[in-house]
Amino acid sequence: MCGIFGYINFLVDKSRGEIIDTLLDGLQRLEYRGYDSAGIAVDGDNKGESIIVKCPGKVKVLRQKIADSDFDKNLVFDNHVGIAHTRWATHGQPMVQNCHPHRSDPTGEFVVVHNGIITNYAALRKLLLSKGFKFESETDTECIAKLFKHIYDSNLKEGFEVDFNELTKQVLYELEGSYGLLVKSVHYPGEACGTRKGSPLLVGVKTEKKLKVDFVDVEFPESNAESPLLQHGANGQDLGLLPVAPGDLRTSQSRAFLSEDNIPMPIEFFFSSDPASVIQHTKKVLFLEDDDIAHIYDGELHIHRASSKNAGESGVRPIQTLEMELNEIMKGPYKHFMQKEIFEQPDSAFNTMRGRIDFENFVVTLGGLKQWLTTIRRCRRIIMIACGTSYHSCLATRSIFEELTEIPVSVELASDFLDRKSPVFRDDTCVFVSQSGETADSILALQYCLERGALTVGIVNSVGSSMSRQTHCGVHINAGPEIGVASTKAYTSQYIALVMFALSLSNDSISRTPRHKEIIQGLQKIPEQIKEVLKLEEKIKDLCNSTLNEQKSLLLLGRGYQFATALEGALKIKEISYMHSEGVLAGELKHGVLALVDDKLPIIAFATRDSLFPKVMSAIEQVIARDGRPIVICNQGDAIVANDKVNTTLEVPQTVDCLQGLLNVIPLQLISYWLAVNRGIDVDFPRNLAKSVTVE
Ligand code: F6R
Repeated sequence: MCGIFGYINFLVDKSRGEIIDTLLDGLQRLEYRGYDSAGIAVDGDNKGESIIVKCPGKVKVLRQKIADSDFDKNLVFDNHVGIAHTRWATHGQPMVQNCHPHRSDPTGEFVVVHNGIITNYAALRKLLLSKGFKFESETDTECIAKLFKHIYDSNLKEGFEVDFNELTKQVLYELEGSYGLLVKSVHYPGEACGTRKGSPLLVGVKTEKKLKVDFVDVEFPESNAESPLLQHGANGQDLGLLPVAPGDLRTSQSRAFLSEDNIPMPIEFFFSSDPASVIQHTKKVLFLEDDDIAHIYDGELHIHRASSKNAGESGVRPIQTLEMELNEIMKGPYKHFMQKEIFEQPDSAFNTMRGRIDFENFVVTLGGLKQWLTTIRRCRRIIMIACGTSYHSCLATRSIFEELTEIPVSVELASDFLDRKSPVFRDDTCVFVSQSGETADSILALQYCLERGALTVGIVNSVGSSMSRQTHCGVHINAGPEIGVASTKAYTSQYIALVMFALSLSNDSISRTPRHKEIIQGLQKIPEQIKEVLKLEEKIKDLCNSTLNEQKSLLLLGRGYQFATALEGALKIKEISYMHSEGVLAGELKHGVLALVDDKLPIIAFATRDSLFPKVMSAIEQVIARDGRPIVICNQGDAIVANDKVNTTLEVPQTVDCLQGLLNVIPLQLISYWLAVNRGIDVDFPRNLAKSVTVE
């Protein structure tokens, strides 16, 4: 969580006001990652010095604070470093001292913004306090800024003048935890360093001239692999100073951008946690890997490796061209991103299938998995691992996987899977499902499975994300950028991608041809059927106004394929409208939950037609017998359900059993949306949440 953004221009004239606008616009697009507070640091009147402005609240509050500040916004710079941050609080409440950027000292010799968590910050803080540093905040990040100064000063005392990259390496050597980090310094005017470990970071490059890429290979001297500046004691507490020659930890490879004739060229660089925030400036991006340090100076970008243990790895980072368009990350005519994304589902569902299903011959081809299908078919079991909504998409499709592949499938919450240190074997296939591809719990679980030699598959929306790069193979769900904090279109696209995965695993089974045909025909109709369901919006608004707005609690009953829908519906309602809601397996009702039922508690039941329909109807009868008046989601024109004992019905088209959840979830997305709007909640920014959870 937290979004970081940086801007560096070279030979491009920009006023300080324009630079600030670039930073604020970048932050605005990252705001979904955290919106407890925001802040920027830009150059002061002397190059390298920093003006820091930060405050609790959203980016618009910061914008106003900057507008009210009296520093000169017209000053023009042709080389300037600005860094910015939007925060989802982990250490310390959202008050001004805890907002980023953080500085090393009152004059701001080093200024940093950070996304992630420094797990050894207590030991570092203790050490730095003992060295006379005074802390201004309760954050883990502040110790990074102070560590920069401490190590810089220590080097100077030893008579070493280290460059910015070298210094960053020495600082990183002391940090444990995760970070996406940007740093600027008065000692390195016009330069910036950005680095990552476990949190995403990319560099956008904008220039009018053609780029030429230059490689410089430098060997790592092996003997220096263990040369820390600060030595960690047994508990990470007894930290003392060790002499170390700077330059010992060297670059493995670096890379610069030059004009073709080697003459310095006007160029702008952007650092960001998410491509969506650079797209308005450039489509040329370079995704950093863990332990990369991107050092920008003199109009060049150099990539170094932070740790000598990775010396053998390639330092080559291809420049990628983003395929997304600006309008994909704009709200258009919609009031909120969530609403836009709900209504985009006919298109996003179609895009997930586009070019992958041959609807005439009933064949599914997933390019990213093609070479791996034989291995997966032979695996001992499939483990699906994810968090939140993505976990629900796994639950929703487990049964069709088992039916079509006859391979045992388990579904795991990433955090629990890791807590249990669940056994994983070389012949397991571990499927990771994630919208962002950056969720820390899922990434840690992925690393755990990779270490154990399992085959890993990513079902991911964000192209270039850590998960899509680190898994052996996978499928991009192609839902397009999802910005609303509540996941909607990613859920339906993950669901479809997983069904396609199951189909492609069993493509060669003759006995399953009729079932394949049925599912593929069903998939073909899904986009149109989603459009049909979206027409329920007016009825849903009325239902919220007449029955749900004032309620404190809500139960959702589902069974079989619809249990996942009940869980997902309950999560949507909780996170967006703050109403307590619980998804209950209809078969479990009589084992305890029935005690809650009376004539007041609203209950939504999924009673669409599949083999479990009679059992769901029996649960509905149990509710009615206790004076409950359930709201029932059923198939269009189903007279058995639509009777005067139910509060109301929301009728959705019928599809194949394993796809029905794609349609049934949409009324719940709309209910959660309208409940939230009616309660005056900022739908795209629900309290305490962030879109991409990059901390454990
Ligand atoms: C709920 C929601 C979260 C995410 C979860 C996993 O609407 O968005 O529950 O689904 O944090 O995120 P990803 O899919 O990015 O791994």
